[in-house]
Amino acid sequence: MADAVVNIEDQPEASRRKFLIGVTSALGAVGAIGVATPFVASWNPSAKAKAAGAPVKIDISKVRPGEQVRAEWRGKPVFILHRTPEMLAGLAKLTPMVADPNSEEPQQPVYAVNEARSIKPEIAIIVGICTHLGCSPQFRPELAPADLGDDWMGGYFCPCHGSKFDLAGRVYRGVPAPTNLIVPPHKYESDSVVIIGVDEEIA
Ligand code: FES
Repeated sequence: MADAVVNIEDQPEASRRKFLIGVTSALGAVGAIGVATPFVASWNPSAKAKAAGAPVKIDISKVRPGEQVRAEWRGKPVFILHRTPEMLAGLAKLTPMVADPNSEEPQQPVYAVNEARSIKPEIAIIVGICTHLGCSPQFRPELAPADLGDDWMGGYFCPCHGSKFDLAGRVYRGVPAPTNLIVPPHKYESDSVVIIGVDEEIA
């Protein structure tokens, strides 16, 4: 079954405007409820293909450093975050605070067993479902917000029972969620197109 590529340049003008409004809103929406993540599902495969679990192709060329978009794969939200160098540097500092810093639990493909839990360090691809009871964590990229504390370096906060994850989806110690967020199978078709739902070939 053919995959569909999510490419903002190919979308009708109204959809492109909606995307840009979404991104703009996200940039201005840092606060207690988290940053709204633009949803790109409307440009994904047909409903029939999605129901069959088809892989999803996403053009990430327009996702700028610090921004996140959300896709849908097999009915689940998938966060695609373009991490900045500062965000990546923060991961190393958080290692003592997370429960499974080296991704020893099988929550990711083998090619994502690294500190950034990704193929490309700057691009995080994470299933947006809390590993406690399945709520969707909020994207909270800001530093030291009042409600999350002075040592918060950006991450995901689950509003249901307070679980915290860093920007690689690594779960903090001492929260209800038992494991890191899931990294789905994925591979890069090109520098700017990622396919979610199929594995990177392993040499
Ligand atoms: S579902 Fe996320 S903390 Fe309970």
